[in-house]
Order: sequence, then structure tokens, then C-alpha cells
Amino acid sequence: MNETKIDQAVAKRRTFAIISHPDAGKTTITEQLLLFGGVVREAGTVKARKSGNYAKSDWMEIEKKRGISVTSSVMQFDYQGKRINILDTPGHEDFSEDTYRTLMAVDSAVMVIDSAKGIEPQTKKLFQICKMRGIPIFTFMNKLDRDGREPLDLVNELEEVLGIDAYPMNWPIGMGKGLQGLYDRYNQRVVLYRKDAQGNQYLPLDAEGKLSDKYPLTEDSAYQDAEGDMELLSEAGNSFDEAKILSGDLTPVFFGSALANFGVKTFLDSYLKYAPAPAAHVDQAEEKIEPDDPEFSGFIFKIQANMNPNHRDRIAFVRICSGEFDRGMDVTLHRTGKVIRLSNSTQFMADARHTVEKAVAGDIVGLYDTGNFQIGDTIYSGKHDVQFEKLPQFTPELFVHVAAKNVMKQKSFHKGIQQLVQEGAVQLYTNYNTGDYILGAVGQLQFEVFQFRMLNEYHSEVVMEPMGKKIARWIDPEQLDERMSSSRNLLVKDRMDQPLFLFENEFAERWFKGKYPKIKLTAKL
Ligand code: G4P
Repeated sequence: MNETKIDQAVAKRRTFAIISHPDAGKTTITEQLLLFGGVVREAGTVKARKSGNYAKSDWMEIEKKRGISVTSSVMQFDYQGKRINILDTPGHEDFSEDTYRTLMAVDSAVMVIDSAKGIEPQTKKLFQICKMRGIPIFTFMNKLDRDGREPLDLVNELEEVLGIDAYPMNWPIGMGKGLQGLYDRYNQRVVLYRKDAQGNQYLPLDAEGKLSDKYPLTEDSAYQDAEGDMELLSEAGNSFDEAKILSGDLTPVFFGSALANFGVKTFLDSYLKYAPAPAAHVDQAEEKIEPDDPEFSGFIFKIQANMNPNHRDRIAFVRICSGEFDRGMDVTLHRTGKVIRLSNSTQFMADARHTVEKAVAGDIVGLYDTGNFQIGDTIYSGKHDVQFEKLPQFTPELFVHVAAKNVMKQKSFHKGIQQLVQEGAVQLYTNYNTGDYILGAVGQLQFEVFQFRMLNEYHSEVVMEPMGKKIARWIDPEQLDERMSSSRNLLVKDRMDQPLFLFENEFAERWFKGKYPKIKLTAKL
């Protein structure tokens, strides 16, 4: 491909993640999107997998044919001339640093909220990462077919709890059993939940944003309420501002029901209109790497170990930042300066079962890795050295004491720990006084994967003793006095020898701050 062709291909890419609290409807909406993209033909395919309705072996067979963990990691499909990459961010017990890092590889995010529940803890955490990156965030208020909270209340909560301005693109006309449709403010029409007697799904609004009296819906109190809310929002609410959407300061809000497939298409169409194509990435030398730059560059944001002990290979997920990926191409790994041939790759086309031949900026490619790559690595083609910004470290919340079960096998234990920590699988701390090892993670799964890999890859059986949740706060070494440590705020060192306290709970942190008002404590994020 020449530069113009790359440019055209990149302009079509939309790469995003769906963030939500478990059960808000992420799987259901993903499935609807895949249906629109023609990737799955039947509703229920993705869900069946999640709920385990698929016999496990069937599913593994499917995954084997398609590459690795296709549907659970990256889904790619074409829709209305755009090539869409959806990156999965697992919720539930799967929550891990990987989830956060995945958000480093997307250009925008879709936040799904259960309209009966509003903002929930996991949504908040994931939102904060998106906010830190300054990427556009689109909101889908889901489950409108059930009775939920007042829409005004939901939008207020969004603004107050998350600190982002909101612009409702549409508004519910009733909800639950009384759901009539959506007042589609953006497209100046009413979308009916059930077609009217004449078979219309869409009713036009007049210049003042009202339905003509000829439609019986105008007599419905739900419609009148929606119209009233819209008037209120037009006077007192935010105005639509594309620049603010792009900078992540304003979130367009859509209402709908993923399960009933209502409002999802309206959402997808508007999303594609305003979501950005891949932008330039700035490298550590403050140089802008444009996505249509003919030289290839990308970074590794996730490494997935193959959990099958008979296959020791791993998949390194690369976000392409510029140029074109060609199977078999040579790239330089910045960290080591080594040239590596990328011959064994897989792309995550959810319906086609092929190894990737070509991909461009915005796409995600999976490379079979035999131990060359680490999370955060930059790879590039050409002579010009590129190194992207380091991926941020996320403050762990869960901690365990860790030791080798067999004291005679210290060597493999240390080797394994060092390598897995370097790879970013878990965070390592040492007790300031005893030197004992402590691991920190964002989610429990990280510990389990760690334990599994220590055994399978390093033949080291580890024992882990849970310490529970802690609040990690770094302290300036200059200000540190070891006597500040107590049983409620354990003093440890991180991998860079920086001191930090692990506070038992918020109360302990507040107590500490009260006792040492001059000490500055910082969280990583
Ligand atoms: P998640 O991936 O965010 O965890 O959520 P998921 O899509 O699995 O949805 C969680 C539950 O919410 C599911 O019900 C799903 O059917 C339901 N749901 C999702 N979207 C809607 C919606 O728009 N309206 C209604 N009423 N329900 C919705 P479940 O009982 O856990 O599973 P299932 O028995 O339906 O499979």
C-alpha cells in the first residue's frame, strides 16, 4: 500500500472498548453490534458462550479455528464502510491490569450503564482511565424496557459522579412496560418502540421539535414528559459540541435496550459519525508519529499466556500506531534493538479464520511470542528509532504474601517472579524490614494466572497468603521515617525501591494524614 492508500484505510478504522459494570449489558450490546456487522447471524451466540451454554469443547474448537480467544479479546467487523475493532475489557472476577491496559490501545470508549442502577463502581474505575487518556466517551443508558431511574436523575448523576458534561442525543418516552419510544433529539424524530397502526417506526418532529397533533402519541403523558424534559435541557443543558466530544469533555448520551435491540442502531450510526479514526501517537522524543506514516510502528499492551501447559506460546497484542503490518515483515524491538521477523501472527476477525496478512494503524494484531516481548514494548520498521510512552502503572488494590513452597527451589522462584513482574503480570513489593515478597494486583485473576504460570513455566510451586484489600500510597523518601509504619500501614518498597505504605483502610489513611499533616502521599493513578 502506498501512503494515500494507508491514509484511506486508516480513516476507516474505529477502535474502541465497551466499559461497564458487570451485568449492565456489555455482552448483549456487543452481540447486537456483531449482528449489525454480520459477524454473528443469531442473537445468543456470544451470550451462550459467556453463560457456558456452549459445550466447552465446542467453543475451544471454534477458538482454535479462529485464532486465539477471538471473541474474548478483539472483535473486528465492517459496517457502513468502516472497519470496527472492539476490544474486550472483562468485568467480574476477570478484572485485572490487562483491563486497564486495553484502554491504552483504543481511540474511544462506549460506556454502558444499567438505567435502573446508574453509575456503579467498576464503571467509575474504567471511566477514570479513559478520562486520563482524554479519549471520547459515548454513553449508552441500557435496559429501557425495564423500569429504571428518572432519565434526568441519571444524567445528573453522570455529570456529578464522573465529572463529565453530558449531552443527551435522545430521550426515553416512557420506560418499562410503558416504553413508547425515543425522542430522538439529534435526528429530529421520534423512534417508536412498536410501529404504529400505519407501520411507521419513525415520526418526524417539526421545526420547534414537536410532534404534529395528528399523532395520537402526543396525548400520551410519557410523550409530554419527554417533550418537557427536552425543553428543559435545551434551555439549561449543555450544547452539542463536537470538539468537546473529541477531547473527552462531553459525553453524548443515548438511551435504549440492548436486549430488545432498541436504540442500538441509532447509537451505532451516531457513534460512527463522531468517534475518531486513529490519531497520531507521540513518542518519548515528543515526536508525532502519524498513523499514515509508511513505516510501521506499534506497542504491546497485553500478553496473554496460553493456559494450556502443552503449549508454551503466548500471544502478544500489538496496537498498530502507524503504517502497515505485513506478515513476515522485519521489525526492530526498541528495548533490545533486536530485529524480529513477524511471521506468525493472527488477527481477530470474528468470522473469518485466517492468519492476518495485512493490517494498518488502529488494528490489533496478535503475535505468537516465545518470550521476546514485554508489555509496553515498542516495535517499528525502518531506520528511525521509535519508542512510545511507557504504559502507566495502575495502583493495585489486592495484596498477597508470596513464597516458594519448596525452600530448596529458590532459584526458579526468583527467576519466575522477576520475569513475570517485568512482563507486568503482577506488581512486586518487598517488606521494608523483613524483605518478604508481597504481590499486588488489580484483580484476583492476576494472582491465579501468576500462580499457574509459576508452576507451568518455571516449575515453581508458590504459596500465597491473602492480605486482602489495601490502599497503596507512595511517600517521598526524603520525608520517610520508618517509625511511621504500624500494623495498619505496612511499609514496603516497590520494584524501583520507592517506599510506600499499604493502608489497612480509608480510616487508617485518614488517621495517618491527621497525625502527619506535612507528609505528602500519592497514588499512582
Ligand atoms: P455484561 O456483559 O455487562 O455482564 O451483561 P450482559 O450483557 O450479560 O447482561 C446482563 C443481564 O442483563 C442479562 O440477563 C441480560 O439479558 C440482561 N440485559 C442486557 N441488556 C438488557 C436490556 O436492554 N433489557 C433487559 N431487560 N435486560 C437486559 P441475565 O438474566 O443475567 O441473563 P439471561 O438469562 O438473559 O441470559
